[in-house]
Amino acid sequence: MARAFTAGRLVLATHNPGKVREIAELLAPFKVDVVSAGELNLPEPEETETTFIGNAKLKAIAAAKASGLPALSDDSGLSVTALNGAPGIYSARWAGPSKDFNLAMTRVEKELGGNPNRTAKFVCALALCWPDGHCETFEGEVHGTLSFPQRGQKGFGYDPIFMAKGQTITFAEMEPAAKHAMSHRVNAFRQLVAACFKTNQ
Ligand code: IMP
Repeated sequence: MARAFTAGRLVLATHNPGKVREIAELLAPFKVDVVSAGELNLPEPEETETTFIGNAKLKAIAAAKASGLPALSDDSGLSVTALNGAPGIYSARWAGPSKDFNLAMTRVEKELGGNPNRTAKFVCALALCWPDGHCETFEGEVHGTLSFPQRGQKGFGYDPIFMAKGQTITFAEMEPAAKHAMSHRVNAFRQLVAACFKTNQ
């Protein structure tokens, strides 16, 4: 059985403002006082693992140990079928040190070249870890296709080129509530809530 989250305060172990916003919105219905790693000036650990779950655990354990509070991290990315799953765990790194996602999306388009297979998925691993090193982990996906040129101003990261299956608009053209109804993050989040947040509802 998963360990329940019973503390009142939770650290969001991410320095990505897009993720902080989305996860805080998802946590809004629960009585949780959310504080981000950035607000606590916690260092950003290097992502040295080879899987989304591995990197999510590494980030949440670092934040939990440094803050003395339970910490929730998100490691996520875009996995493109025709690129053998790239950029995958390197999704943030494809944007370079200036975190320029125009650069990253242009690279995806360039590497696809004339390949007609445009299928891709977003993957999200969530890790809820406690200062004693115990972690509960969850993984969610959303499948879809890539569409160029970029469309939409909402969301973050690769949202302007991703259309979920059955949709005609990109994630960046969707209202946040519509993206939350189908995203990889919400899929993982639902599993997390069912396993660890029941008593906080
Ligand atoms: P990391 O998990 O901090 O290594 O970064 C994951 C990267 O994947 C983000 O910086 C985004 O570029 C991308 N990504 C993850 N989730 C989403 C999403 O919901 N929309 C668009 N891009 C995403």
